[in-house]
Parts: sequence; structure tokens; C-alpha cells
Amino acid sequence: MCGIVAYIGDKPAFPILINGLKRLEYRGYDSAGVALMEEGNLQIYKKQGKVKQLENLTNGHSFDSTVGIGHTRWATHGEPNDRNAHPHYSSNHRLAIIHNGIIENYGALKTELEEEGYSFESDTDTEVFITFIEDIQKTLGVSLEEAVRVALTKVVGAYAIVIMSQDDPDKLIAARKGSPLVIGLGKGEYYVASDATPIIEFTNEVVYLNDEEIAVITRAGFEIVNTKDIPQKPYIHTLDLKLEAIEKGGYEHFMLKEIFEQPRSIADCMRGRINATEGRLMLGGIRNYSGALTNAQRIVIIACGTSWHAGLVAEYLFEDICRIPIEVEYASEFRYRNPVIREGDIVIAISQSGETADTLAAIELAKSKGAIVFGVVNTVGSSISRATHEGAYLHAGPEIGVASTKAFTAQLTVLTMIALSVAQQKGTISDVKFRELLVELESIPKKVAKALESDGKIKEISALFKDVHNFLYLGRGYNFPVALEGALKLKEISYIHAEGYPAAEMKHGPIALIDENMPVVFIATRDSSYDKIVSNIQEVKSRKGKVIAIVTEGDVLIPKMADFTIEVPATHEALMPLVSVIPLQLLSYHIAVMRGSNVDQPRNLAKSVTVE
Ligand code: F6R
Repeated sequence: MCGIVAYIGDKPAFPILINGLKRLEYRGYDSAGVALMEEGNLQIYKKQGKVKQLENLTNGHSFDSTVGIGHTRWATHGEPNDRNAHPHYSSNHRLAIIHNGIIENYGALKTELEEEGYSFESDTDTEVFITFIEDIQKTLGVSLEEAVRVALTKVVGAYAIVIMSQDDPDKLIAARKGSPLVIGLGKGEYYVASDATPIIEFTNEVVYLNDEEIAVITRAGFEIVNTKDIPQKPYIHTLDLKLEAIEKGGYEHFMLKEIFEQPRSIADCMRGRINATEGRLMLGGIRNYSGALTNAQRIVIIACGTSWHAGLVAEYLFEDICRIPIEVEYASEFRYRNPVIREGDIVIAISQSGETADTLAAIELAKSKGAIVFGVVNTVGSSISRATHEGAYLHAGPEIGVASTKAFTAQLTVLTMIALSVAQQKGTISDVKFRELLVELESIPKKVAKALESDGKIKEISALFKDVHNFLYLGRGYNFPVALEGALKLKEISYIHAEGYPAAEMKHGPIALIDENMPVVFIATRDSSYDKIVSNIQEVKSRKGKVIAIVTEGDVLIPKMADFTIEVPATHEALMPLVSVIPLQLLSYHIAVMRGSNVDQPRNLAKSVTVE
């Protein structure tokens, strides 16, 4: 959601904060701000809009503060404007805070504070929070860290915060609950951020704060206590993340880079895990509970958005080759509907960011009912990866573009490996079919590279459709979730209304929409429902709809019916989503660019949704 970066050390803090905010901008981009110590005074500079606007505001200033906090916001409480941007001062302007998350009981706290005579400059829960801390400090006469600790025992909600104080200028206080925060360890200097991206150019040694932990950081070191005031031993992680991975590498947008990275990210995801020649498949992360997974009577998959679509593809595959009933649930619905989960039930949670609040809450609910939860997560060390019993990382590298692309194909790859491994253990797949699928899976990176060669043609098609108002995406079987994903990609970055449907459902309603102005994207590759989807294409054509068909290389029938065809290489139908989604990612990308949208940071969206 929002991005947090903070620094204390011997270098000027301002450039570190600004660069860090640029790296974090994908997390939120309504407004940005910094707080610095200038000639003994706590100064805040903040501005609605992108980090660039903040830079313009501070142009001409020279800052020598060696401590500071910075924030890029995705609004939850209070509209995006200068006043509501972070950091926020406390009422006496001697404390400043940056905050990611929501303080749910801020209304009651605000009323109490107003009754005591405090007033507020913004509409945010965050300003109430920092003023509450100021009030505790005054009333109890305690240190800043103690006031923060007491405040945290009284607030309800989620937070990652960093606080600095005019009276304690050589100290930062950081704390988290339900929103990620990581401390980067340098020599005589420390960084704090909501993820490692602003830190990795300085250090690869980090400590992830756990929920309800508070870190007090000075240039000489840091200490962690929990909100019950019990000291906690920090665990130092060494990050294996390269700077190139979070830069654009010559591409115009992160999204395009990430689309084109897929042959490599899919290969990375399989590296060391499969050897098709020897018929070996090994997922090191799933070990202690692999028996429970194999013997599951049913599996519940929980996820949101694109990750949920990956879950739908997995449903087809698990049921097909493992013969285990699967339910795929939106995490946001699951967590609020008293689901039936029994002791020992298996849950698989899928998440790119590993921080999605709904998915995290659904995991906690499932665990409280005795489920064993596996994670399929991209971000190493993220909250979801730590909340699950076991899991398999995607190893797709950081995904910066807000629209998920390479994480989706990596999720499909990992879920396929899990399904194959379960089916092999259970004996629900023959050796021949197991090996066949393994060989095919290993060939996917090359096939994705081939699918990417249609980029030029897709760009030409995009130019013809960039001004339409609606799109329909239709697919059957394994390609039905791909239709949903194609529609989501188009909506979120081009703002064109699009719907995904199972092609056979069209005649139960959406067919009424078809006329000469309605483009319909068919994912019509050669599989067991090919003949049926050919009929669906005819139904659209006879109503004058414009058909763009994704077909298997060498198809001669559909090109005669469709207005446009885009070929992808043949593969097993269970693996086809890995390939057939590629043209849809490119189509949405080009249309969005041609419409002038900001594809990497589409309006109203944030990369990791840490609020419910
Ligand atoms: C779509 C997209 C979102 C995410 C969803 C879940 O392109 O990015 O729909 O897929 O917010 O996020 P994660 O996978 O991080 O839990």
C-alpha cells in the first residue's frame, strides 16, 4: 500500500529518502513527503502527487540532516491532498510520523483528544495516532519509546510506523502490526522501509520486524521490544536481491520488462526443482507437511485478484491429476463467512506480495480452525510467507509494475509442480503422463519466448481497438481463468471495461452485448474443448462481433472465421495458460500505452494491498 523509508546515519538523509521513495512509488502514489531535522527543527515537506512533485517543492533547498523519514501514500483516510500527505506532525509539531495501515479506533481517540483541547490539521487517522502519543508522553511523563509502546497497546488496527522527534533527534522509532517493515543494517547507519527495494543498494543485511514489535534505532545500534515490553532477539537475514532486478533495464515500463522477463522468471522458478530427463521433481519448501498434502480430502485455495486466477487454473489441474476436490475462494469473502474448515484441512494461500491483508487474515482464520496452510508467495520474508506452515517461493524476482504478469506465470509454474508432486505421491498419475508433463513444463520458457515474438502484431491490433469502451474475453476449461485474467489486465491499466466469461456461458446473458462494436477475445487454443469454442466463435461472428482469437500455431480453421488471430506454440492443455496469457498481457499493455495511461502506476491501485 503506502511506502515507508527512513534513515539514520552519517550521510545526508534527503537523497536517500527521495531515491527510496522513487523505488517505493509502485506501492502508492497519491502524495509523498519527508521529515528532516533542519537546524534543530523538525521540518516536514510534503506534496500531493508523485515523488517528482515533492522534488519540485524542495528544489533549491540544501538539506544536511542525517536523519529523516519519508512516505509515499495510497489514500485510505482522507482524500489525497497536501494536508493529508505524510509525514504528520503531532499537535505540538515536536513529533513526526509516517504510517502505513489503518487505525480503526481513530474516531474515538480523536473525540477524546478534541475534548482535551487538541485540534487537527488533516483528516487522517495517522495525525490522531501521533497526537495520541504526544498526549501519553505529556500525561505520563515517559520517554518517547514508552509513550509509543503504551499507545500501541491502545490502538486497534494495522500499522507500520516510523517516528522521529525534535527532542530526541538521534533516534528513530519503528513498529509494525499487520503491515511490513524491514530494517537495513549498515555500519553506523540504519535504514527502515516497507520492503527491501530502497535498502538493497546499501546493504543486504536486514531484520524483518514481527507483529507488535518496536525497534528503537540510533546510529550506535538498535533494540527491539514487543508491545508487552519484553526484549526480542533480532534475526538477521541476508538478502539475495540484485539492484538490476528492481530497475527498468532499458524497457519503457516495468510492466513490459516483466512481461518479457517471463521466459527467465519461469525458468528461475523451476531451477533446481525439476529434472525432466531423470523424471525428478523436488520442492524443498514442502517437506514436513507433504504427507498431509498428499492425503488431503480437499484443498481450499485462498487468494485475491490475479493470484485468485492462478488458483482457478490450479483447481482444474489438481482435480484432474490429483483427484482431490478443490475450492478456490476470494480471501476477502472466506475470512468473513464462517467457512467450514476442519482440523488438518489443507489450505493453499497464493500471493505475489505476501502482504495482502485479506489473504493474511484468511490464513490466520484457517490456522485458528486447525488447517495446515501452504504458501505460494513471491516476496521472500513477507508476512504471508512467515504466517504459513510451509510453502514454495516463486523466485520470480521483484514485480514492480502494479499489474501482475510474471508473478502469475510463476504461480502457475509452482502450482503445477505441487500438483504433479502430489499426483505422483498419490499414484493418481501414470509415470508416462508424469514425465510427459515434466518435459512439457521444462519447455515452457522457450514457448513463452516464442509467444512474445507476436508483440509487433499485437501492437498493430491494439491500435485498432484502443478507443473502444468494452471488451469481452472468453475461454473454456484451463483457458477460462485466462479469460478472467486478460479482462482484469485490460481494466486495471487501460480503464476499459472488460469482462471475462466461460465461453459457453455467453449464451446465458453476455451474448446480448454482442454487436459490430464489441471486440471479443477468444482464447481458443487446441484442447479438449476446441470444437466447442469454434462454435462459440461462430455465434459471435453471426452477430457481427469483432473476434480476436488466440490460437495454437498452425491452426487453419479459426483464422478463416476470426478478424484477427495471434498464434502461440502448442503445449499440453494444462500448461496452456502459461503461454496463452502472454498475448493478453501484451494486448492490455499496448492499449494502455496508446491511451496514455500510466501502466506501471494505474490510478487508484497499489501494488500490495495491506488494508482490507
Ligand atoms: C492484478 C493485481 C492484483 C493482485 C491482488 C493480489 O494485476 O496485481 O489483482 O493480484 O491484489 O495481490 P497478491 O498476489 O500480492 O496477494
